[in-house]
Amino acid sequence: MAIRDILKMGNPALRVRAEPLIPPFGDEVYQLVQDMRDSLEAVGGVGLAAPQIGISKSLVIFEVPADRIQREEGEIVEGVPSTVLINPRIEPLSDDTELGWEGCLSVPGLRGLVPRHTHIRYSGLGLNGREISVEARGFHARVVQHECDHLFGILYPERMTDMRYLMYESEVQAFMEDLRAKSEPARDEI
Ligand code: NI
Repeated sequence: MAIRDILKMGNPALRVRAEPLIPPFGDEVYQLVQDMRDSLEAVGGVGLAAPQIGISKSLVIFEVPADRIQREEGEIVEGVPSTVLINPRIEPLSDDTELGWEGCLSVPGLRGLVPRHTHIRYSGLGLNGREISVEARGFHARVVQHECDHLFGILYPERMTDMRYLMYESEVQAFMEDLRAKSEPARDEI
């Protein structure tokens, strides 16, 4: 078990475009994944990219608990099991985007409203070297887009379209309550 330090925004290693990994994957890659899992578990996040621990390789891990996925009508809500995705590619399956709150272990203490594609297909290799191809929506799609951005040296604030919605975690709840309170009279009029 090795918990690695997570690099923070400003560290040049977070700006580098990650290199692809060539299968078959050996002990070095297995050890990297184990260190990333240990590091993620220690801080309680939903995803981590290898560059965040200073390894400039095209590998991300993520895990989305069922209660984090928005319920869609008629859809069975299931969690996304712990996934290792190597050399990923993302293809949007719709032009639709939506805003959602994101945080990042490399940008601790802050949250921002970020537009992301609502429906994507992601593909790449699993740890066993086999091709993965998965269709994802909503929060699942958001997590994958966020993690894969790290492989191109992009952090979520750069995806934001309105920097007024970058704020401290402690302010988000009050901000949302304020927003709801302000929009209530308008709803009452309908
Ligand atoms: Ni991140």
